[in-house]
Amino acid sequence: MRKKIVAGNWKMNLNFEEGQKLTSEIVNMLKDENVKDVTVVLNPPFVHLYSVNKLIGDTPNLFLGSQNCSDKASGAYTGETSAEMLASFGAKFVIIGHSERREYFAESNQLLTEKTKQALANGLTPIFCCGEPLEIREAGTHEDYVKDQLTESLFGFSAEEMSKIVLAYEPIWAIGTGKTASSDQAQEMHAALRSHIASKFGADIADNLSILYGGSAKPDNAKDLFSKPDVDGGLIGGASLKSRDFVEIVKSF
Ligand code: G3H
Repeated sequence: MRKKIVAGNWKMNLNFEEGQKLTSEIVNMLKDENVKDVTVVLNPPFVHLYSVNKLIGDTPNLFLGSQNCSDKASGAYTGETSAEMLASFGAKFVIIGHSERREYFAESNQLLTEKTKQALANGLTPIFCCGEPLEIREAGTHEDYVKDQLTESLFGFSAEEMSKIVLAYEPIWAIGTGKTASSDQAQEMHAALRSHIASKFGADIADNLSILYGGSAKPDNAKDLFSKPDVDGGLIGGASLKSRDFVEIVKSF
């Protein structure tokens, strides 16, 4: 049985007080809801990790994640944060290869392999992001484009390592635009990615792989997206900043 996962990506939003308030609200709401078969992850900016983790405490099914980690283990890399540090602060997940990092910080498929290695070596579950820009979708080459991202970053891992990775498909044209992919578009891509993973790592690994959808997911479209057989959850940006919307999405399975 593959895991259902809803991960909130706060991106570069919320000061200390706002982060505390949002986390407390989510913790309280989740305690009142019966969502025990969904893994929920909060991915705040680094500076929030310690305090968000304290508030998460032992809330069932709620975990701490990070939005990024270094490709290096430690040393003189000013401004970087290692996977080992994240694990020591209680993180269980780390987002790797978000399209904003690929675009604004020039993260290559090869660099993302190194980040994924660091995450795995420190017991973090990588939420590995992939997705195509609008012009690739319009040219009709989106499946090959996204499969190539996976091939180049992940196909050097063993099946055992691959079994510890979660994928997030985020069409770039749907991120923060209010224009979500249709549930059929998401399903089509997720199924293609699952069979691509099966071709390299085998059917068992592919069947157990959680593939999340990201891109303008909200309470009013989450149910439709999550009803698709290959959509195992969501990576939520804007709607993760509102406790009620985020928890509604968690309840949408
Ligand atoms: O990581 C989250 C995604 O980039 C989706 O962001 O829900 O604001 O479109 P969004």
